[in-house]
Amino acid sequence: MMKILNYGSLNIDIVYQVPHIVKPGETIPASDVSKNAGGKGANQSVALAKAGASVWHAGTIGSDGEWLKELLESYTVKTDFIRSYEGITGQAIIQVSEEGQNSIVLVGGGNANNRREDIDDTLSHFEEGDYLVLQNEVNLTPYIIEKAYERGMNICLNPAPYTEEVKTWSLEKLDMLVVNEIEGQDLAGSTGSYEETLNTLCSRYPGLDIILTAGADGSWYGKDEFREFAPVAKATVVDTTAAGDTYFGYFLAGRLKGLGVKEAMIRAAGAASITVSRPGAMDAVPWSRELT
Ligand code: RIB
Repeated sequence: MMKILNYGSLNIDIVYQVPHIVKPGETIPASDVSKNAGGKGANQSVALAKAGASVWHAGTIGSDGEWLKELLESYTVKTDFIRSYEGITGQAIIQVSEEGQNSIVLVGGGNANNRREDIDDTLSHFEEGDYLVLQNEVNLTPYIIEKAYERGMNICLNPAPYTEEVKTWSLEKLDMLVVNEIEGQDLAGSTGSYEETLNTLCSRYPGLDIILTAGADGSWYGKDEFREFAPVAKATVVDTTAAGDTYFGYFLAGRLKGLGVKEAMIRAAGAASITVSRPGAMDAVPWSRELT
């Protein structure tokens, strides 16, 4: 049976509720602070699992992050390939404004300490036709792409947080690319509309499933000449953290369960609208039974 592996980040999110995102040189009070489970990778594994998919999460944590592993297991994510090391777990220092917008500072920790031998060992448990989910929050991502490609895995990349290096990766080896409007424009070298950006990416990467998310403006799908659009689902925004992670996890889970593109997009947008209506990251991701 086809398996899903997500080689991705695990973070301890320290979240400050602030009136607005702090400006350079400014000091502001936070009305609250909380410690949440996060990391783009782990959030996406939880979204896949809560959407009903069977997923293994791989990555690296310190002893301070053991609780993340237990939490993932409680969400039915398999943790056999999460390795412990001597240092600290990754951290995200997050400000959430009264409008629900966020700003994030990352500390790599375990996410920056994945080792080639662990990647090789993990991938040896997966085979041709299995799915690999990746973001840009762990070290050695280009290496993981190369090795998974050699094994014939289907590779799905959300290159967030975006860096210039992403352009040097072997993106033609991917099967699915999920970008937001800024990442998409930078990759495409375009300053045009969402549709123009998608057209450029689709002609550059033939045969690739491409999703372009644009926050409140909705999301677009492209593959060769085929296009779809899904509007955003209405929500009262409390905290946008993990909205994109929810969308990606739900979209992929939907497609692997046999949903059509449009149906999977609408379901993903619905799930993301629930995530933004709640505080936190992976805890805010809804279970599929919560979607109407
Ligand atoms: O995508 C949201 C995530 O980004 C947060 O949970 C934080 O850990 C950062 O990695």
